[in-house]
Amino acid sequence: MANVFEFLERDHAEVKRMMAELEERPPAEGEEHERMRRRKEQVRRLISESSKHEAVEEEYFWPAVRNLVPHGDELADHAIKQEQRAKYTLNDLIDYEPGRIRYEDMLTEFITEAREHIAYEEEQVLPELRLVISPERAMELGTKMEKAKRLAPTRPHPHTPPRPGLLKATGPLVGAADRLRDLVAARRH
Ligand SMILES: [Fe+2]
Ligand SMILES: [Fe+2]
Repeated sequence: MANVFEFLERDHAEVKRMMAELEERPPAEGEEHERMRRRKEQVRRLISESSKHEAVEEEYFWPAVRNLVPHGDELADHAIKQEQRAKYTLNDLIDYEPGRIRYEDMLTEFITEAREHIAYEEEQVLPELRLVISPERAMELGTKMEKAKRLAPTRPHPHTPPRPGLLKATGPLVGAADRLRDLVAARRH
């Protein structure tokens, strides 16, 4: 069990760790097959982790920020715009092969934007929420997010509008369909 702050910070730390790992040694063109396969798998995990994370934020976190924080709407609107942009990049990445120049460019672009987005949430949004949320509500929110993440979509779905309520209604189904597609893609490689 984690409150909303612990939940988000732990998730962010994991995404940051994955991105640092990808940056450690970017592949050169024509590098051996096995290393490319590994890189593709690392990127797939990053896409899955970020997609689940942003989906539960859309469903639970931003509505709470809008409700509780003065100027919460402004904060949420800005962050959701960043999230939408990242989804399009990730959606392109799914279909590309590592090692191609464009692939590495897109990955670098995603990593830069994701760091900016995480910093925005951690430096601008979480401190504001901390001032106004009760410990009980923080725990309740974190618990809900933790639970929802288990069934959340593992792909970015940039064409689905980022509205709360949608995930509650369709999330588990979309999440299940995503997991099936992940499985098929993993077999192909
Ligand atoms: Fe986010
Ligand atoms: Fe986040």
